[in-house]
Amino acid sequence: MTTTLMNTRKFLKTAGLLCAGVLLAACGKQGSETAAPASAPAVASAPAPTPAPRVLVVGTDAAYAPFESQNEKGEIVGFDIDVVSAVAQKAGFEVKFVNTPWEGIFNTLQQGDRDFLVSAITITDERKQTMDFSSPYFDAQQLIAVKKNSKVGKFDDLKKLKVGVQTGTTGDEVVTKLLGKNSTNVKRFESTPLALKELESGGVDAVVADNGVIINYVTNNSAAGFKTVSDKSFAPEQYGLAVKKGNTELLEKLNKGLADIKADGTYDQIYTKYFGAKAAEGAASAASK
Ligand code: ARG
Repeated sequence: MTTTLMNTRKFLKTAGLLCAGVLLAACGKQGSETAAPASAPAVASAPAPTPAPRVLVVGTDAAYAPFESQNEKGEIVGFDIDVVSAVAQKAGFEVKFVNTPWEGIFNTLQQGDRDFLVSAITITDERKQTMDFSSPYFDAQQLIAVKKNSKVGKFDDLKKLKVGVQTGTTGDEVVTKLLGKNSTNVKRFESTPLALKELESGGVDAVVADNGVIINYVTNNSAAGFKTVSDKSFAPEQYGLAVKKGNTELLEKLNKGLADIKADGTYDQIYTKYFGAKAAEGAASAASK
C-alpha cells in the first residue's frame, strides 16, 4: 500500500517535470500559438476547440447555370454562389459549397449534413411544411424550350407531347399537372441540362424549367437550335434559401444579410453581372423580354 503510494507520488512528480519540459519547449517554438490550429489532427473523443468563425456547409445542385454550376476547374460558381458569399461576408460567417444532387438535397438538410441550401429553390407551400425559407431573393417563372421548327405556341400544346423536366422541380409539378399523374410522356431527368440534351437529340419534344436556366442554355448553345415559349398560365415563383425547420437563428442571419446586400448595392452588382438588367425590374420580366 505505502510503496504503491510512494511510487505513484514519484511517478506524478516525474511526469509533472516532464510535462513542464514539454510545455516550455512548446512555448519556445511559437509564442502566441495556444489553441490547436484548425488543421491539427482531431482527437476523436476530445471536444474540438471552438474555431473562431464557424464554416457553414451549403448544399447546391451545381448543374443549374447561371445560378450554380461547376467551372473548368471544378469550382462551384454562379449567381446563387455570389449572393450567398456576399450574405455570409455581411453576416460574419464562412461558407463552404458542396455539390449536392437535387434528388435528396432536402434530405441533407433534415439530416444535418448541410446547414442551408441555395439552389434556385422555389419557395412553395408544400416545401414550407418541411423546411424554412429566407425572404425571397429572386423572381422566376417556368419557360418552355422547344426546337426552332416546333409548332408549340403555348403550354397547352404540350398535352400530347413528350416533355422533359428535372425530377421534383416546380417544372415537374406543372407538367405533371398538365399531362396527368400517370402520363408516360413526362420524362424525368436527374438534372435540367440532361433534359435539354435529350431535347437536342429528339428524345423529348419540349423541356419545361426555370426561365433563367432555359434562357442561359438557349443563348449559350445556339447550335442546339432551340427557341423559348412563355405562357401566361405559369405562376410567378420566388427563390429562397432553405434552412432546417425551426433554425430561426440562422434564418435571421440570412435575412439580415440579404437585406444588407440589397441595401448597399451588392445585390444589384451581382444581378447585373449575371443578367445585365436592373434588379428592380425583377428577373421574370427582364428574362422574358
Ligand atoms: N426552381 C425550381 C424548383 O425549385 C428548380 C430548381 C432546381 N435547382 C437546381 N439547382 N437544380 O423546383
